Amino acid sequence: MSVPESSPISGPRMAAAARRLLSAKAERFTESVIREMTRMAMKHGAVNLAQGFPDFAAPEEIKEAARKAITADINQYAITWGAKPLRDAIAAKFERTQGVRVDPEREITVCCGSTEAMMSAMMAVINPGDEVVIFEPFYENYGPDAILSGAAPRFVPLRPPDWSFDRDELSRAFGPNTKAIIVNTPNNPTGKVFSREELGFIRDLCVRWNVFAITDEIYEHMTYDGARHVSMASLDGMRELTITINGMSKTYAVTGWRVGWAIAPPAATDSIRKVHDFLTVGAAAPLQHAGALALALPEAYYAKLASDYLVRRDKMLGILTKAGFSCFKPSGAYYIMTDISRFGFANDVEFARYLVEKIGIAVVPGSSFYNDPASGARQVRFTFCKKDSTLSAAAERLARLRPA
Ligand SMILES: Cc1ncc(COP(=O)(O)O)c(C=O)c1O
Repeated sequence: MSVPESSPISGPRMAAAARRLLSAKAERFTESVIREMTRMAMKHGAVNLAQGFPDFAAPEEIKEAARKAITADINQYAITWGAKPLRDAIAAKFERTQGVRVDPEREITVCCGSTEAMMSAMMAVINPGDEVVIFEPFYENYGPDAILSGAAPRFVPLRPPDWSFDRDELSRAFGPNTKAIIVNTPNNPTGKVFSREELGFIRDLCVRWNVFAITDEIYEHMTYDGARHVSMASLDGMRELTITINGMSKTYAVTGWRVGWAIAPPAATDSIRKVHDFLTVGAAAPLQHAGALALALPEAYYAKLASDYLVRRDKMLGILTKAGFSCFKPSGAYYIMTDISRFGFANDVEFARYLVEKIGIAVVPGSSFYNDPASGARQVRFTFCKKDSTLSAAAERLARLRPA
């Protein structure tokens, strides 16, 4: 229905009336820039080094397990907090790799990806007025996670080149209203792997203020140059204060399967399970069964995963350095943050647009990882979770780029 110009509800009044029908929370954040860059890559036929999904095949045995599960008619709702074989496999793997023993009956909730696990965890623990400490730059989902769960974010900078944090600054971010800190290690977008010592400092603050650490450990198996992933829950005193978020997406190259989980003490798990049940009921049942097989893969699988990613990282570092970028060398995950000062563009968004439209490479503008866009105006992020041929195609295109 069109409203005539002279209508009493045209123009700003109509916009205000339309806005009244919408959630003020949803108005406070934008669409995901990362996912938007993927759509732009498709539109311009660009090599997509923006969104972190592998373009190579998932392991054959996992795909076969999924096919078998469907054939065996595992096609109805799983138990809402996760199929038992998968929960058992998650518990066994956490104990095997991090030495943390958890009860799969009372401490694990399987969700639709770690994205939902993070959102369910936040909604399960946040009350109005609660604050959540977030290291910045941060994976862009944490902003909307905070808004939708009603938390007030307190940002603490990670500073290049090593993305370390200032201990006094972090201490000052904690207070009587703090409910949780989000720790993403290995980190997206910086590639930082938090050391045991850094985690110990964060642990002391969590214990002092009785605060949850909600840790996103989805890149746990991608570490380089001797860096080792340490789970916060394995630190003394953190077993009861950690909500560990993880998932199948990155480790098994199945980002479209949407299987993730939250591991939390029983009381928090009770709350997470309720939120999860009413958000999604459950993750895809046959894929959960395939997940049980995936998590039982031998150590050799993870060693090869890390060494293959190391080769990709080094190739991508070479390509970007040759093209004129200053790279922050990642010790983990599969992204490279770069400094774009040399190219002479006004900001990251303008440069990212130029790259996708004129050079044929999609990247993520740095500003999407910061609360204040100005903080990321000289950075863009590349992912290297791609086939060798994709990285070579990117190299050819980037050779056309000229520093100012
Ligand atoms: C830090 C981080 N957490 C979570 C996710 C999303 O994971 P999932 O596919 O399990 O929802 C991503 C995806 O890029 C990520 O980088």
